[in-house]
Amino acid sequence: MTDPRPNQGKSVFVRTYGCQMNVYDSERIVGLLKPLGYSVAETPDNADLVVLNTCHIREKAAEKVYSDLGRLKRIKNSRNKTGGDLKIAVAGCVAQAEGSEITSRAPYVNMVVGPQAYHRLPELLARAAREKGEVLDTDFAVEEKFDRLAERKADGPTAFLTIQEGCDKFCTFCVVPYTRGAEVSRSIDAVVAEARSLAAQGVREITLLGQNVNAWASAPPAGMAGSAWGLGELCRHLAKIDGLDRIRFTTSHPRDMDDGLIAALGEEEKLMPYLHLPVQAGSDKILKAMNRGHTAEHYIRLIERIRAARPDIALSGDFIVGFPGETSEDFKETLAVVEEVGYASAYSFKYSRRPGTPGAAMQKQVPEEQKSEHLAQLQALLERQRTEFNQKQVGKSLPVLFEKAGRKHGQLVGRSPYLQSVHVSAPESMLGSIAPVSIEGVTPNALAGVLKEGEYAA
Ligand code: 5AD
Ligand code: SF4
Repeated sequence: MTDPRPNQGKSVFVRTYGCQMNVYDSERIVGLLKPLGYSVAETPDNADLVVLNTCHIREKAAEKVYSDLGRLKRIKNSRNKTGGDLKIAVAGCVAQAEGSEITSRAPYVNMVVGPQAYHRLPELLARAAREKGEVLDTDFAVEEKFDRLAERKADGPTAFLTIQEGCDKFCTFCVVPYTRGAEVSRSIDAVVAEARSLAAQGVREITLLGQNVNAWASAPPAGMAGSAWGLGELCRHLAKIDGLDRIRFTTSHPRDMDDGLIAALGEEEKLMPYLHLPVQAGSDKILKAMNRGHTAEHYIRLIERIRAARPDIALSGDFIVGFPGETSEDFKETLAVVEEVGYASAYSFKYSRRPGTPGAAMQKQVPEEQKSEHLAQLQALLERQRTEFNQKQVGKSLPVLFEKAGRKHGQLVGRSPYLQSVHVSAPESMLGSIAPVSIEGVTPNALAGVLKEGEYAA
């Protein structure tokens, strides 16, 4: 008989690069390996298996992975000298993009697993053990990857839940459509089952994830008639789950922001008033060159409709400065959009050429100094807006979900509905609960508040 847990006593170290999607995938990788007998190692130094869960969105991502692989090679070599071994797996988007390039540049890598195939890690591990050679699995087959995964284990009162993967939008700067493949939605029944299981384990807030989360679409739940559901319907449905008090979702594309979702943001109390809706740039010429499929005007009208439905909504965005052909005049239009919208938070980047994307081959690449100058200007404006938004909360009472202990003794850190961190003196017994907090001040990255007396049970 074969040992059902052949890896008992072994440990795995997972290094996560990049986005929340990858943090989620890493959790799932650990979730897949634990039942096989793997425990989690804190460093690669004493792990039996190292998984590099890579991200391709930033420049030089692949080089960073190769340099990390170089360090792992040294650990592996010294183990081999004493009869031991270290198995190395490269997962995620760099695995997808580089494919067999990885095993030719780093032949000591045992497994290369694309984002659509990591549920097969256990099988690949078994094959690697048998064959002692490289194993490559970066096929784009979307064989219900989501549903073959192990049961989610909750870790604290908040959790991510992937409902959608991939992107068909092909923005000309972005590698995601090449690395993550076409848009795929997870079925409503699978999403609801996972959300229920998380809620039963004490999760109070879920963040639905997807590269284009608002492109999610599925047939209605089993037994219900009607046409396909969108994200708005999904959120309303998830809101019925007992114990689940807050629902968020990210990242949305302006083109997929439909009336159903906007109405849900206005009407469903459990949907938090926070929306990450990247615009990337403010000049229509640049938006067109980026293949965004919307103009600045369209975006601003969309924001108006969203604000009409949910006046207090906190808006967040992504911005790229220095896309090929962007002049100082074009850039001013980005500043104008920011001024008009007023963001509560934002992410901004200098354009970086990603090999294989149309942007990389475009003429009129923008000089680095100009990119840096514009980025500094944009970030100063966004930072001013963030601080203003935070300051507006002072004097208000906000419900805070307490997530973890603070750095100071006797302090907890939670989140406001607007996703701001809030530091509060509160007993540890309040972890995982939602309580009203009077916001008294603003620190550089958070709000400071006090519990409203008598309104919580310690
Ligand atoms: N250069 C700079 N920023 C990029 N992003 C994606 N690709 C690039 C690139 N080539 C940014 C976009 C996207 C965010 C996740 O990363 O703003 O929304
Ligand atoms: Fe990339 Fe554009 Fe798709 Fe977002 S919408 S993942 S930026 S291609």
